[in-house]
Amino acid sequence: RIPLLLDCDTGIDDAIALTYLASRPEVEFAGIVSTAGNVTTEHVLGNNLALADMLGLDVPIARGADAPLAQELMTAEDTHGPTGMGHAQLPATTRTSDPRSGAQLWVDAARAHPGELVGLVLGPHTNLALALEIEPELPRLLSRLHIMGGAINHRGNTLPTTEWNVAVDPEAAQRVLAAFASTPRRPVLAPLDATESVRFTQETLDALRAISDHPVITALAEALRWYFEFHEADGFGWMAHVHDPLVAAHALVPELAQTTPLAVDVELEGTLTRGQTVGDWLGRWNREPNVDVMTEVDADCFVAHLLAVLRARFGA
Ligand code: BDR
Ligand code: CA
Repeated sequence: RIPLLLDCDTGIDDAIALTYLASRPEVEFAGIVSTAGNVTTEHVLGNNLALADMLGLDVPIARGADAPLAQELMTAEDTHGPTGMGHAQLPATTRTSDPRSGAQLWVDAARAHPGELVGLVLGPHTNLALALEIEPELPRLLSRLHIMGGAINHRGNTLPTTEWNVAVDPEAAQRVLAAFASTPRRPVLAPLDATESVRFTQETLDALRAISDHPVITALAEALRWYFEFHEADGFGWMAHVHDPLVAAHALVPELAQTTPLAVDVELEGTLTRGQTVGDWLGRWNREPNVDVMTEVDADCFVAHLLAVLRARFGA
């Protein structure tokens, strides 16, 4: 089985990613870190605990830092709903969080599975950056790191050039990309360029609801209904860009997308572009590539795969 640490800001698409991973028999969760982003840490943690309960997951779930490294927290209730789960009402849970910090859970999970742990970052990079302060060897302890973040040759979804996960904590993203630069296996970075090729439509939503009336499926569908409303209000029509589950699935099924080596850095100064991820396609910086950036995505195949995995787990 694959030991995996999930760091997320649940969040509608994070919740789908978590459910997908919990439905894959080969995944052995080493921990879940609740990172502030789409909503506050309090809500992210509450969502992760409630979802873990519904999914029957017995895994340490840590509360991450309450704020980014160097700027105030911004949250996106307009995108993800007042608690991060759109219109879904998750049942109350008596589960409690792991006493460790999010950063410490990263470090402990990596030390417990040296060379084997797969790290998956689906929210801001705050807790991973803090973990690097505790254990600078973390990049060499992990087997692989997969990150949803950035917009390389693509408009942003936060400010004109910034993607949400990087925009919430640009310093953390910059530190993580720098720290992993010299690892034998480059992190996979899935920017909006790739993830926005996944477009859920009403047909996708209908197919999801048709799986069963299991409470997890109903919660995801009700969460997605909010996501559709947000995208429609934002001018995209009745659909939703669903980022995080693609990155989770690609970590397990590499055929779903292609990647290419690239040197990427984060702009920390620009008055208009702070938080932009800049890719050096022509090698002007003379730096070694520090990520494998996700490029082509087989979006239809991914959606079919996601639905098949959920059907296998929750189908009537
Ligand atoms: C990312 O931002 C969040 O709103 C989503 O959960 C995803 O991780 C996309 O920019
Ligand atoms: Ca997310």
